[in-house]
Amino acid sequence: MDQIRIRGGNPLRGTIQISGAKNAALPLMAACLLSEEPLVLSNLPHLADIATMSNLLSELGVNVSMNGAAPGGHGGRVFKLDAAETSDTIAPYDLVRKMRASVLVLGPLLARQGRARVSLPGGCAIGTRPVDLHLKALEQLGATIELSEGYIDARAESGLRGGHVVFPMVTVGGTENILMAATLARGETVIGNAAREPEITDLANCLTAMGADIRGIGTDTLKIHGVDRLHGASHTVLPDRIETGTYAVAAAITGGDILLKDTRADLIEAVIDVLGRVGVAFDETPAGLRVSRINGGLHGVDLMTEPYPGFPTDMQAQFMALMTVASGASMITETIFENRFMHVPELRRMGADINVQGRSAIVRGNQKLSGAQVMATDLRASVSMVLAGLAARGETLVSRVYHLDRGYERLEEKLSACGADIERVRDAG
Ligand code: EPZ
Repeated sequence: MDQIRIRGGNPLRGTIQISGAKNAALPLMAACLLSEEPLVLSNLPHLADIATMSNLLSELGVNVSMNGAAPGGHGGRVFKLDAAETSDTIAPYDLVRKMRASVLVLGPLLARQGRARVSLPGGCAIGTRPVDLHLKALEQLGATIELSEGYIDARAESGLRGGHVVFPMVTVGGTENILMAATLARGETVIGNAAREPEITDLANCLTAMGADIRGIGTDTLKIHGVDRLHGASHTVLPDRIETGTYAVAAAITGGDILLKDTRADLIEAVIDVLGRVGVAFDETPAGLRVSRINGGLHGVDLMTEPYPGFPTDMQAQFMALMTVASGASMITETIFENRFMHVPELRRMGADINVQGRSAIVRGNQKLSGAQVMATDLRASVSMVLAGLAARGETLVSRVYHLDRGYERLEEKLSACGADIERVRDAG
């Protein structure tokens, strides 16, 4: 298996192009199932998860064609997704197992085809991650749901009807599934305690462009008036806020100065606020978002992950890597997932001083990190090791690179263009 080799110590300077958001692209791709007319999505990132969703849609009979990309292939891809003749309503275990976001085809299939059979996603490295809230909400829209042989069998033969759904906890995927389903349900659906992540706003804007009637976009109460059919549309995927935050941490941890292009500060306000208190300067210029250290030093700051607009759980591991080299201590509390500290033992092997107590981790900073062989069990944990490696003395070898390939496009290319000593070591076998 490939590895990433990093020799740390270089302050990063230069420009990094931010890609389209993975977590917006996946539900947007699933939304093509709602219409018999094509959906054209641009600024799609070139990532393993996008390929998995594309394979799943193809299995369902969607005609997926790549309509090109900007010169060099680096300006994001353009996909035309044509679900005129969907031939199947089954999302098989093999694909759902690879990527939990496959469950996002459930709402659209049920709404347009009246039935769907989707493999139940299992637990994963960061927690048990059930989909019970998706299923309960679909039942409130009139679906009949049975679980058998590891599959969700959902039916709504005479169509879904509007209903009042109040999520007991904020769920991004749950909100997306019900939002998509409700666009074709009879009557009005109200989603209370809806997730407000920018990726949901992006999805709601695309559905509106397809003819959906959605009120309250960007708030925690979405009102959807179902329509008979949705039509085709073209939509540009919004910038990846987690990639943006990750490279901001790369600038901070190495004492560098990076210009992040094609992204938006308003997507990461909570991250900018916290990193500002740590000692990181953000400057929004016409050329992009410039990130550097304010006066050289970094200070420990406490933090709690929260649903948007709070500090994202998907930035927690990267922030922890930064705290290992800041002065003072930091308490980091993870409130979204119950098992999202798998990076801690690996960061410790690089010299970090971190203690986990339940859902909180105490990081004692000021450590001189040293390179080590490390590996991680999920995407954000993996990238936190890359960040630590950029700041460490000596060589860091990160294995299980396939995690990084799920969510970071051309990671080593983007970082080495800013002066990082980083390369992919291909597995000879
Ligand atoms: C999305 O996952 C993201 N994935 C995750 O990004 C992100 O960490 C997460 O939202 C939180 O922001 C995509 O957008 C594809 P949730 P999702 O439903 O939708 C519990 C990354 O690294 N829950 O908001 O699966 C659940 O177990 C990834 O890019 C239930 O109990 O997250 C979790 O504790 C990882 N029952 C909490 O809610 C349900 O039916 C929030 O999960 C649904 C969720």
